[in-house]
Amino acid sequence: MTANTPSNLRVPGPTPLPPEVLDAVSGQMINHRGKSYEEIQKRVIENLQYFFQTENDIFLLTSSGMGGLEAAIVNFFSPGELIVSFTIGEFGNRWAEVARRFGAKVVQIKFTSGTAVTKEEVNRVLGSQRGVKGVLFTHNETVTGVLNKISDFAPIVKSHPDKPLLLIDSISALGAVDLPMDTLGIDVLVSASQKAWMAPPGLVMIAVSQKAWEQHKTSSMPRYYFDLTMYKEFALKNQTPATPAVATLFGLDASLKLMKKEGRENIYRRHLQLRDDLRSGIRKIGLELFVSESDASPTVTSIIIPHGVDGHEWLKELREKYHTVLAGGMGDTKGKIIRVAHMGFVGKKDLDEVLVALEKSRQDL
Ligand SMILES: Cc1ncc(COP(=O)(O)O)c(C=O)c1O
Repeated sequence: MTANTPSNLRVPGPTPLPPEVLDAVSGQMINHRGKSYEEIQKRVIENLQYFFQTENDIFLLTSSGMGGLEAAIVNFFSPGELIVSFTIGEFGNRWAEVARRFGAKVVQIKFTSGTAVTKEEVNRVLGSQRGVKGVLFTHNETVTGVLNKISDFAPIVKSHPDKPLLLIDSISALGAVDLPMDTLGIDVLVSASQKAWMAPPGLVMIAVSQKAWEQHKTSSMPRYYFDLTMYKEFALKNQTPATPAVATLFGLDASLKLMKKEGRENIYRRHLQLRDDLRSGIRKIGLELFVSESDASPTVTSIIIPHGVDGHEWLKELREKYHTVLAGGMGDTKGKIIRVAHMGFVGKKDLDEVLVALEKSRQDL
């Protein structure tokens, strides 16, 4: 697969669109209260259930990813309730901050940038906390390129005496990385259209377990636009309460068809292979990886900026001379790393081109 963009766009969202998706998003608008819209929404939700590996409700919110993370807090908790948040970077910090701003009591456990959450620490922290209503993890920390092994932590959360909800931000992994919601007992799972789903920005997907619905009934955080009670009512008609991002839905419908054709397992394998090939290519050209083999993300790879190189200049050289658009660090990794995204519409050729651009631009500098 090669992206049909003037430059090799390898930032972690928005990601390039396949030609079929580009065609779909340019379609004429339709009535979002009409039959053709309802058919599309129904099909999209069914296809998302296949990739979320769930029979739970999934709702589409017209928002960027952060809106989905806000919805995941305000719908299930009341001010003063205890939420434990395990964070490994900036996006985890932001989610914890959302919970704080809406009045939750947040215990945030921060891990060193570039490393994953450990089972031992989850055991230790949850073992010492009582009155826990929810536990938050970022599946894939996009800011560092670290993948958390949710399957290691889910059983610990599930066996906690308080029976807290397990909430996962998989905005930059789901669709590319295996995360079986029902098998792991995840209660709230959030993703966003502009990442591995090969669709434009504009839609968040949020899946909600039966147990989370029970907690929703008594939760009292303020909410209006993101109140999932309204989404559930409108979902009965395969509609959304407010005007949805119709063009993004057209795109997501087309991309899910492509994804189903490729098959879940093949997609997961492709991303793992791309990660491994890219990492070995980076080592070969003498650059250093920021994340260890065991924590490395299948969708984002971080490279340490070599001593004496200005990261900003390097990104500019890559962009202007080699038409390769990569991302810098964020928060505490700003100026320390550059990041290559490889999620969704991406193949070996795209990443081989990134490697050539990296090697040549490094020499130029
Ligand atoms: C893991 C993760 N969480 C949250 C967000 C925020 O999403 P958005 O920028 O769409 O609001 C991002 C965006 O890159 C992300 O990668």
